[in-house]
Amino acid sequence: MTIHAALQKNVSLKSLNTFGIDAIAACYLEIHGIQDLERVYQDESLRRMPRLILGGGSNLLLVSERFEGIVLRMVNKGIAVERDDGHAVYLRVAAGEKWHDFVMWTLANGYPGLENMSLIPGTVGAAPVQNIGAYGMELKDHFYSLRAFDFQTGQMVELDREDCAFSYRDSIFKHAMKDRLVIMDLTFALPKSWKPNIGYGDVAGTLKEKGIVEPSAEQVSQAIIAIRQRKLPDPAVQGNAGSFFQNPTVTAEQMAVLKAKYPEMPSYPQPDGRFRIAAGWLIDQCGWKGRQLGQAGVCATQALVLVNCGDVKGREIAELAKAIQTDVQARFGLSLVPEPAFI
Ligand code: EPU
Repeated sequence: MTIHAALQKNVSLKSLNTFGIDAIAACYLEIHGIQDLERVYQDESLRRMPRLILGGGSNLLLVSERFEGIVLRMVNKGIAVERDDGHAVYLRVAAGEKWHDFVMWTLANGYPGLENMSLIPGTVGAAPVQNIGAYGMELKDHFYSLRAFDFQTGQMVELDREDCAFSYRDSIFKHAMKDRLVIMDLTFALPKSWKPNIGYGDVAGTLKEKGIVEPSAEQVSQAIIAIRQRKLPDPAVQGNAGSFFQNPTVTAEQMAVLKAKYPEMPSYPQPDGRFRIAAGWLIDQCGWKGRQLGQAGVCATQALVLVNCGDVKGREIAELAKAIQTDVQARFGLSLVPEPAFI
């Protein structure tokens, strides 16, 4: 099959982003393997086009109604046990696999370690971009390496954890390597000695309610799935992109000033001495929870999540986000940074 046989023109992205926003991609190609990327690279007009690398579309706000470039949608599949060095099991997984399906596969096959990140939407290949995380765990904790296609050289490259420069909801793929590297697969190192990590929020409480004191990885996963389902809207039912803003980070001095004024403000100490503040609480305090501007809404159970109340336009979500940022800035002097990429 030549590239032009698989290349599609004027494709609607409505079903390919979890907000369910309609936008048209000028060109669209599904990526099953490296050969597909090599063919794009070898075609000069395609290589020069703006690129949008699409996984599950769960961290994306399509602000423009048309994308004048090429969407490369990652659909490559496969999970394999690469090796076992006695301390850890190394698993290689293709970018196009769904993240949650991969976590379920690890548990079904007896490789615990990723259970706290159960039910995070999106694909495996998108996970390193914003170093996904939940319930006291981040992708970087068990990440070993990844392989990616480099559009500057046309070659494959391998990056380890340090190369990826992971931090809270951030990595090199949002900066220097944005649109340049296309992540093809990831390798995880899951330690063979496993301990549950249930110190965060209501995880231990949820398990205790069920009378579970020493949970298995499956039980931790089930508790986290239950908490997420309780708080977060299912994108299949109501379009959303999970947390819309990052939790802002402040210095210990700034935190002391804020705490004196707002003793009930939820905050989490970080290893570097700084504090992270719950953005959902800030938005809630500004009275936005459950409100709507046009077809763009703020979720009634978690103010950090913006939702599609019908047939929302990307710019309506962007306007709502701006109004929230303005209010939080005016009231608390804190700026909220959006999590999704605006296209
Ligand atoms: N809160 C409110 N009102 C709200 C929402 C939250 O008062 O409307 C308060 C809660 O009562 C709690 C605090 O804010 O005291 C924190 O809320 P929560 O435990 O729900 O966590 P979060 O900080 O809002 C973060 C992640 C989530 C992740 C959870 C659990 C970010 C931006 N979000 O949310 O990630 O699932 O912790 O680890 O860091 C995502 O990125 O899409 C996502 C869902």
